[in-house]
Amino acid sequence: MVVNIGIIGIGNIASMLIQSIEYYREKGDFTGVMHQIVDGMKVTDINIVYAIDIAENKVGKPLNEAIYEYPNIVPKIVEPDKLRCRNVIVRMGKILDGVAPHMINVFKPAKQPEPTIDDIVKELNDTGVDVLVNLLPVGSHNATRFYAQAAARAGVAFVNCIPEFIASDKKYDLLFKDNNALVLGDDIKGQLGATILHRTIASLISMRGCRLLKSYQLNIGGNTDFLNMIDPTRLTSKKISKTMAVASTQPDPDAIKNYIYAGPSGYVEFLGNTKVAYMYLEAESYGGAKLTIDVKLTVDDKSMASAVLVDVVRIAKALSDRGVVGSPYWASAPFFKHPPKQFRSDWEALRVLYSKFDEYGIDIKPKYVFY
Ligand SMILES: NC(=O)c1ccc[n+]([C@@H]2O[C@H](COP(=O)([O-])OP(=O)(O)OC[C@H]3O[C@@H](n4cnc5c(N)ncnc54)[C@H](O)[C@@H]3O)[C@@H](O)[C@H]2O)c1
Repeated sequence: MVVNIGIIGIGNIASMLIQSIEYYREKGDFTGVMHQIVDGMKVTDINIVYAIDIAENKVGKPLNEAIYEYPNIVPKIVEPDKLRCRNVIVRMGKILDGVAPHMINVFKPAKQPEPTIDDIVKELNDTGVDVLVNLLPVGSHNATRFYAQAAARAGVAFVNCIPEFIASDKKYDLLFKDNNALVLGDDIKGQLGATILHRTIASLISMRGCRLLKSYQLNIGGNTDFLNMIDPTRLTSKKISKTMAVASTQPDPDAIKNYIYAGPSGYVEFLGNTKVAYMYLEAESYGGAKLTIDVKLTVDDKSMASAVLVDVVRIAKALSDRGVVGSPYWASAPFFKHPPKQFRSDWEALRVLYSKFDEYGIDIKPKYVFY
């Protein structure tokens, strides 16, 4: 079995995702992949069949060339002629609010006619997309809704990797249910990124009977994702998503949320795709004694996101094949920062996912929790 995916936004994650599939095909072993098998599918069973962008230097190009175009900076880990997506031509998308005013010379929009929702619905059906992946820049409120509606109307599963609230909005849950389609989201977690590490330490604090008092998570990086996020007006939902991901590990998320800061905190160009996160947690322990934890995490930002994405698209296909529609919170919770409902810990989220998979007869390997 294979999964055919479409990608909106051929930026750095798309480049890493596409190259990594071929990297694993050449390598032959799957070190670094979280779930090596999902419903019989390996990472190498992911086919890219459809791609949309708006940039003049990407639209109209074969996908195996477009992924290396400016401003993408993921290094070439696979030669372009080895990539099986060379027959996919990047199509023109609908610009809407995908391009912030300060990004106009970075994502330079092509002067081409923009598609209607009907056009996208037809293209999704004609190309046989099973799962449409949203990788638009942060702050793409209207553009995300445009593509989500197109996916729903086409009856295609939608994976929302960005901090726009779609899977966690009841309205979209119903829209996808009405169209017999699945939606997963919102805001993809990294494989071992700042959110999951911060959540794990915060869960540990409460699991050991201590009380989290305050915490911050400052993130810096040097790619277009971080450059786009220097405009604070595009960050409202990103901050909610990251802050609530940590607050939700605590006994009273609403009480602690004003004492947690988690969000993008600066653009440092020379860092490129390296993301650095600084975390600080302060807690009250036994006898009122104060406890503090300081952590610095350094990761390749795009590898972190791609690692989770290769699991999510196979899961979306497996669930769609079993007739699961709408926005199942248990399928999104292990993989997204802002799912429709949060679990207190990521272990709990995985345990519930695996038991649901047992119910649906979906194999997933290896399993990391036992129940
Ligand atoms: N670890 C991570 O990298 C991570 C984690 C969580 C969420 N995200 C989010 O995933 C998204 C993608 O990340 P990225 O690093 O690939 O971004 P990027 O900046 O490299 O790429 C964005 C792409 O979208 C294109 N685009 C802009 N407007 C468009 C439109 N209206 N229609 C179609 N294409 C459009 C741009 O031309 C560009 O190619 C971002 O929102 C990011 O915040 C990333």
